[in-house]
Amino acid sequence: MNNESEIALQDYRQQSDAVRDRFDRLKQRPVTLEVKALNKVFNTSKGPVTALKNINFKTHKREFVCVIGPSGCGKSTLIRILAGLETPSSGEMLLNGEAVHGPCSDRGMVFQGYTLFPWLTVKRNVMFGLLQSGHGRQAAEEQALQWIELVGLAKFADVYPRQLSGGMKQRVAIARALANQPKILLMDEPFGALDPQTRQKMQSYLLDIWQNIDVTILFITHDLDEAIYLADRILVLKAHPGEVQEVIEVPVPQPRSPQQFLSAEFLATKRRLEELIHPPNEGEAFSTENLNMVRMVHVNDEVPSVF
Ligand SMILES: Nc1ncnc2c1ncn2[C@@H]1O[C@H](COP(=O)(O)OP(=O)(O)O)[C@@H](O)[C@H]1O
Ligand SMILES: [Mg+2]
Repeated sequence: MNNESEIALQDYRQQSDAVRDRFDRLKQRPVTLEVKALNKVFNTSKGPVTALKNINFKTHKREFVCVIGPSGCGKSTLIRILAGLETPSSGEMLLNGEAVHGPCSDRGMVFQGYTLFPWLTVKRNVMFGLLQSGHGRQAAEEQALQWIELVGLAKFADVYPRQLSGGMKQRVAIARALANQPKILLMDEPFGALDPQTRQKMQSYLLDIWQNIDVTILFITHDLDEAIYLADRILVLKAHPGEVQEVIEVPVPQPRSPQQFLSAEFLATKRRLEELIHPPNEGEAFSTENLNMVRMVHVNDEVPSVF
C-alpha cells in the first residue's frame, strides 16, 4: 500500500535535535494564556449540546498557535469564550497569570466577516478603540497611522472600507485589533472569505507583522496548509464533544516561506493532520452528510432563490 515517497516521509513526531531544542526553548518562555478544564454546554430546545469538553492548553510569549478541527468541533465557541463574548460552563482562563472575565482590550479579535465600521475611514476605524480606551485625539491618530503603516496601508488611511479589497479590509481589522496592544490576538478564520492567492499573501503579511511585534497569536482555521505554514504549534480538536485530540509541534523551520510547502517536514505534518481530521473510515459518513445537505437545498423552496 505504501509507495516509496510515503516510506521516505518521516512521521512529524520524529523530531530532530534542532526541532526538539526549539520547542524546549519555546516552552521555557513565560506563559501568556492558560486554559484550564474549560467546558461549554449549550442548552438548546433539543437538549444540552457539549461544545467543549475539558480543554487544557497553554500558549507562550510570542507563540503562534493554530486551532484546527472539523466544522462544529467548538473552534468559534473556544475563541468567543477567550474573547469574553461567551461565558464558559466551567473552567478557567488566565492571561499573564490573571483570571479573565468578559471582554477587554488585553485580547484583540479578528473575525472572518468584515467588521469595520463602514461609515468611518480606515484611520478612524483604527482610532476607534484607542479613543475608547482614553487616548487623546492626537495620540490616537498618531498611533493609528503607525499601525496602518505596519500593515502596509499608509496610502489608504483616508478611504472608506467599501473602497478596499477583502484582503485590505482584513489588514485594517488586524491594525485595529493590534492598536490597543493586546497581550493576545485572537483570530477566527480571518482569511476564510478570501480567494486562495490573496489568502496566501495575507498569511505572509501576518507572519511579517508578527515578526515585528510582541504578541501571542491564537489563530483558528480549518485549512491544513494555513495551520502548518503559520503555527509554532497546532491544537487539533475533534468534534462531538469538542476535545483536544493532539498538540502538534510543527517541525518546519522558522522563519517560514512558501517554498517550504513541499518540504518533507511540511508534508509529514500535513499527513498527520489529515489522519486526525479525516480518518479513512469517516470519509463515507462525511460525504453522505454532504449529500443530505444537497438534498435539503433542493427540497427547500426558499434556498434556490438565494443562489
Ligand atoms: N449559541 C449556540 N447555541 C446552541 N448551540 C451552539 C451555539 N453556538 C455553537 N453551538 C454548537 O456548538 C458546537 C460548536 O460550534 P462552533 O463553536 O461554532 O464550531 P466550529 O467553529 O468549530 O465550527 C456546534 O455543535 C454548534 O451547533
Ligand atoms: Mg467557527
